Formats: sequence, structure tokens, C-alpha cells
Amino acid sequence: MPDDLRAWLKKIEAVGELKVVEGADWDLELGCRTALDWNNWRNAPALLFDNIKGYPPGHRVLTNFVMAPSRVALTVGLPQGLSDRGRMDALRDRIDGWHSTMGDFPPVTVKTGPVMENVVSGKDVDVFKFPAPKWQEHDGGRYIGTGHAVITRDLDTGEVNLGCYRVQAYDERTVGIYSERGKHGWLDMQKYHERGLPCPVAISLGHHPLFFLIAALALKRSEKDKAHEYQFIGAIRGEPVEVIEEEVTGLPIPADSEIVMVGWSPPGKTRMEGPFGEFTGYYASGEVQRPVIEIERIYYRNKPILTGAPPSRPPHGWFYFVTLMKSVTLEHQLREIGVPDVRGLWLHESPGNLFVTVSIKQRYAGHARQAALAALDLAARAGIGGRYVIVTDEDVDVTNISDILWALTTRSDPERSIDIIRDYRSASLDPIIRKPAATFSGSCAIINACKPYEWMNEFPRAIAFSPEVVKRVKEKYGLK
Ligand SMILES: Cc1cc2nc3c(=O)[nH]c(=O)nc-3n(C[C@H](O)[C@H](O)[C@H](O)COP(=O)(O)O)c2cc1C
Repeated sequence: MPDDLRAWLKKIEAVGELKVVEGADWDLELGCRTALDWNNWRNAPALLFDNIKGYPPGHRVLTNFVMAPSRVALTVGLPQGLSDRGRMDALRDRIDGWHSTMGDFPPVTVKTGPVMENVVSGKDVDVFKFPAPKWQEHDGGRYIGTGHAVITRDLDTGEVNLGCYRVQAYDERTVGIYSERGKHGWLDMQKYHERGLPCPVAISLGHHPLFFLIAALALKRSEKDKAHEYQFIGAIRGEPVEVIEEEVTGLPIPADSEIVMVGWSPPGKTRMEGPFGEFTGYYASGEVQRPVIEIERIYYRNKPILTGAPPSRPPHGWFYFVTLMKSVTLEHQLREIGVPDVRGLWLHESPGNLFVTVSIKQRYAGHARQAALAALDLAARAGIGGRYVIVTDEDVDVTNISDILWALTTRSDPERSIDIIRDYRSASLDPIIRKPAATFSGSCAIINACKPYEWMNEFPRAIAFSPEVVKRVKEKYGLK
């Protein structure tokens, strides 16, 4: 039984989580219909757009696919019905295993696969054969790559990378890409360009949601695991990913992708990219000259499905998955670098990793500030992150914003609890940086919302029923 996007769609259809939407126009209607479900993000179904205006039946676009927690759980193999905290606990148990076993799951190269059903090359290439939407009203054009994975290779080490960096469609054979400075895709392209070489790029535009999810996560590279993202997907699934060694670029592409386009990014060739509605909720990075990719070949399945995940003002169609996966990943890293007694970490929904909450069991003076600075460093490694980091005690549920606000307003003393870090790393899509700007940096705040360490044992007792009383009363009244 294949474990591809179509098998995944059958599973969500069986539980009533897939809705087919007919007749939308790729020009704003598809994006707007997608956005109309965002206020009901915990429960709304995935949307499969078909009979899109100007396109043959079957040329489909799938959106909101990993929006609801139930579908995120299905995708990474968690039980249904858990709370946010429960999902975090369940993932925490699994993530160490995935990291330690990924070495056992190098991708397997196969000769062919469903993605080879149609192959078009050279002058027959037309990226507009697929209904790339203009998602938001002030986007600078049609964005074909939003729920995708950009595949590149390090020129020196041969490591393969999967990254989710937006892709604008310019004309039949040219697309533009925005990979922020320092990201793996950017680093890979830089190496080729610095040596005057065109960089080979493959872009998978429709696939099982895991390819999108893992491309959007910052996983550590290692020379041992040459295709670390493919391997991580293999570890999650418990079986290796099948890839085809693509003929034009030599890059490994997923054998069961819906659509893969491949080509070259020539050195020094750029074009205006953007603006684009971004995950901060603004069009903040504007219109900028960025590298282009000249597409040489497109592979696609019959009746192809483009996976679309436009960012926006949160909540939107993928913020929950990012919140959950990044929270678990950062919490794991926080422990790995040696911060003791971390009890939870949650990147709150508004937006992405700009609002980080951590809970610890305080062990010594300065422990809270140490955890805050380490969390800030980790959250900002992707460029923009950690604008506010709040550290609190272990009795606070970091996934619960009411609990956080309770701790913030009762355990912090603004005069001594807030530290401002100035001139810290940021990125061009940071809305608070006025453009044009020569550099992208700004300030962050870390807030100690733990009981004051020096007198924490005298701090007023927090109101709560003991677990024994709760259990007894629940049993008595038949409550869950
Ligand atoms: C839907 C979505 C869109 C994204 N778009 C971009 C983008 O346009 N540019 C970018 O640099 N990062 C973008 N990101 C974040 C990167 O995917 C993320 O930082 C990832 O870790 C990059 O892979 P890398 O760590 O291998 O560089 C996006 C993430 C998501 C979930």
C-alpha cells in the first residue's frame, strides 16, 4: 500500500476531514475560500479545489491540509484526541527516537515511480500548466510554491537539503525563490554562485504532507546523514523514502510526488520577487531582487495535486503544525545544550516563533535567565524569532495562554524581570524593521515570570485542587 498523498487523502476523507470545492478562480478566490476556514482551524476540513477556472478537471490544489490538530496527529503518527500538551508529550517521546534512528533510513533509489507518469522538457515546459494561485490581494504574482519542498545539494559535502522557501511563478519557464540568508537552501545556492556555477534545484510541489512538514523544519545537518530530511521522514514512517535520481540535475526527488520541477539557478541572474503575504501577517519584505530558477523539466502524475500552504496573519492553514513541531524540536535542543529541568516549551500561535514560553523547575539562582537566553538563541536561529521569551515555573501549562498571562501578571515584576537584548539577529520580513534597511536586526525581550528564586518557597500558595481530590470528584460524578 503506497504511503503517498493520495493514500493520506483517503484516510482523511474516511473521517470526514476532506471537502472538495468546485469552480474557484486561482486569482484570489482559491486563497480567499481557504482563508475563510481559518477562524475554525481546529475543526475545519482540508480543501481540495477541483475544476479550477481555466484548468482541466483533475488539476487540483489542496489547502489547509495540516491545519487541524487531528490531521497533524495523523501525519506524524500520534493518537487522536489528545490535548495540545498531550500531543507535545507524545511527540517528545518519539522525537528522540527519530533523531537516533534516522541513520538507519537513507533514501532508497528506485528507477521510476508515479511522478514519472508525465515528463515535459525544454520548450514544452509551462509552469502555468498547474493552477498556481494568486493567494492574497497584494501578492506580487502567482505563487506556485507554498506547501512544497525545495531540494538542493551542498557542492562540497554532497549533503541533500529539503527546505520550504516560497516560489513565485514568473513565466512558463522561470520561477523566483526567496530563501532567507543563512538557510540551507541559500547556503547551497551561494556555494555554486560564488564559483560562477549554476545551482541545480528540484522543487516538489505536491506530496504526502510529511515532505512539506519536514522541509519547513530546521533540522541539524550532519555529514553522516547525507540526506537528513529524507532520513527523518523515513524514521517517522519506519521505512525509507523512495527517490529517483533525477536525470537533468542528478538530485534525488520523491518517487511518489505529484509534481516536481527541476532546473538551474544561474549565478548573478535575479528578478524582482514579492511582495507576498507573510507569516507575520504583513507584506513586510516587499519587492526585492532575488535569484531565479530556469525550469528545464517538469514531472507530474496524472490529475496532479498541487499542495498549497499560504502564510498569513495567524491563525492560518499551517501555524499549528509549526507551533507543535518547532516547540518539540526547540525543547529537545534546549535540553541537549544542557539547560536542566526544562518542563515545557511552546511557541505561541501569534505568529510562529516570535512568542516563546518555557517552563522550568528552578534549581538555582539565574536558572530562569539562562533558559530564556538559550531559548532566544534557538528560536532566532532561523532568522526571525524569540521577540518575547517568557520563562515560568513547572506548574504553569505553557500551551495555555491564560496560564501564561496569569504567571506573567502575578510572578513578574517589570522593574527587574524584563531584559532587553538590543541589536539582535532578525530578517527582512520583520515588520518592525523600517525598509529599506541596510541590515536586519532589532531588539528582543526576555521576561522572567518565575516565582523569585530567593524566596520562592514563601511565595503565596497557588490555588489548585490536589490530583486526589480531582480524581475522587470526577469519579463520583462520572466526568472524564
Ligand atoms: C509555509 C512555509 C513557508 C515558508 N516560506 C519561507 C520562505 O519563503 N523563505 C524562507 O527563507 N523560509 C521560509 N519558511 C521557513 C523555512 O522553511 C524553515 O526555516 C526551514 O527550516 C528551512 O529549511 P532549512 O533549515 O533546511 O534551511 C517557510 C516555512 C513554511 C512552513
